Amino acid sequence: MPCEDASDRLRSEIAAEIGARGPIPFARFMEMCLYHPVLGYYTRGIGGGGGRDYLTSSGTHSAFGLLLARQVDEMWRRAGRPDPYHFVEFGPGEGYFALDFLREAARSEGFAKALRYVMVEPSPVLAERQRSRLAGRSASAVQWLSEQDLDRRAKFAGCLFANEVLDAFPVHRVMGTPQGPREIHVDAGAGGLHEILAPLSSDSVGCFLHDNGIVLEDGQEIDLNLAAPCWVSWAAGLLQRGYLMIVDYGYEAPELYAPQRRRGTLLAYHRHRIGEDFLERPGEQDLTAHLDFTAIRRAAESAGARQLGLTTQARFLLGLGALELIQVPEAPLAGGDDQPAGRFLEALKDREALKELILPGRMGDRFRVQVLGVGDVPRDLAGLSRPWDRPEVTAAASPLSPPRGAALARESEDQP
Ligand SMILES: C[S@@+](CC[C@H](N)C(=O)[O-])C[C@H]1O[C@@H](n2cnc3c(N)ncnc32)[C@H](O)[C@@H]1O
Repeated sequence: MPCEDASDRLRSEIAAEIGARGPIPFARFMEMCLYHPVLGYYTRGIGGGGGRDYLTSSGTHSAFGLLLARQVDEMWRRAGRPDPYHFVEFGPGEGYFALDFLREAARSEGFAKALRYVMVEPSPVLAERQRSRLAGRSASAVQWLSEQDLDRRAKFAGCLFANEVLDAFPVHRVMGTPQGPREIHVDAGAGGLHEILAPLSSDSVGCFLHDNGIVLEDGQEIDLNLAAPCWVSWAAGLLQRGYLMIVDYGYEAPELYAPQRRRGTLLAYHRHRIGEDFLERPGEQDLTAHLDFTAIRRAAESAGARQLGLTTQARFLLGLGALELIQVPEAPLAGGDDQPAGRFLEALKDREALKELILPGRMGDRFRVQVLGVGDVPRDLAGLSRPWDRPEVTAAASPLSPPRGAALARESEDQP
């Protein structure tokens, strides 16, 4: 379906819903834009393929999946090597992470044997793409399940993982006014869709503000992701014993709702351009907001879990040995043929992509890793250790070097 058609159809459906029930909370608008059963942005799987609108850590370099596999291998060993051991990836998107994770897990025989890799992907289009990407590679150990399937299962031992998933949950946008907090709703008129301020759409929005002591200044706008803490308490309930690892951008509550941040964190991404025209091209652009790690920690605690660590992606990956994966390409000899020069350039590009994952000002400190534990599990994990405490690793002891050009391979592997 051509993009304009899909977006126009979705806009009409949104307008029809507004016609039937009145202005809708922005969270409902965002839900339709991203997850409409046919026309939603993620349902159609249009943003990540080839990095059209966004590029995640898994899409940037294979070291991300590889190092996380190392972390989960450690979790499994320290749990006493249970067989089976479940690793559940929520929102796998293009499926790159699983590819790199499974490739690395295969090096650890006992771990590979015990591992049950589960994917939870609501978009049938993306799930199909994941299947093709993994075809022929350890696919027998991979299963696609729905949240309802997981609910029907007995509690299990393992690790749950979500990279850049919770930031795509719909947010309520609330603004401080002299009359108290009001919520941004979407209305439809002759000029198309537009925003209006209306009373809070539900008690849960008011309760969240009250329970978290959030008092808004006049004109200050915040976005509230109520779905993320709900999801975390549900997910923690799936585990008998194990970990929940969330990788995403976000802040602790005092920083997230500080009055200096006048207009919240919601952003629209379209073809790598960042915008604030949230009502533009419904279903054609990504909408995403920063997480509230404090609300997530509290939700986890209420569900009987505890926070084991909240750190930057840089520290987490360095703790797992990211530096040992950085290759120093050998400069080609002057006057040599073109092949070594080509390999040199490829290795340089590969190194740049890996650095993107860990450098400050880039993905290294834009993303945080929040590790939550259920049951009596060790908290002194390699990813949460101080990277400078790592024992020296000799080249011989590091079997984990990614294949040269792994990141480059991504570019020619965009769509299966
Ligand atoms: C920005 S993409 C992240 C892709 C991937 N994790 C990566 O690292 O590249 C968001 C993904 O989350 C999925 N998603 C959204 N809501 C979800 C939910 N409730 N459970 C599982 N996946 C969800 C989307 O369909 C999409 O695959």
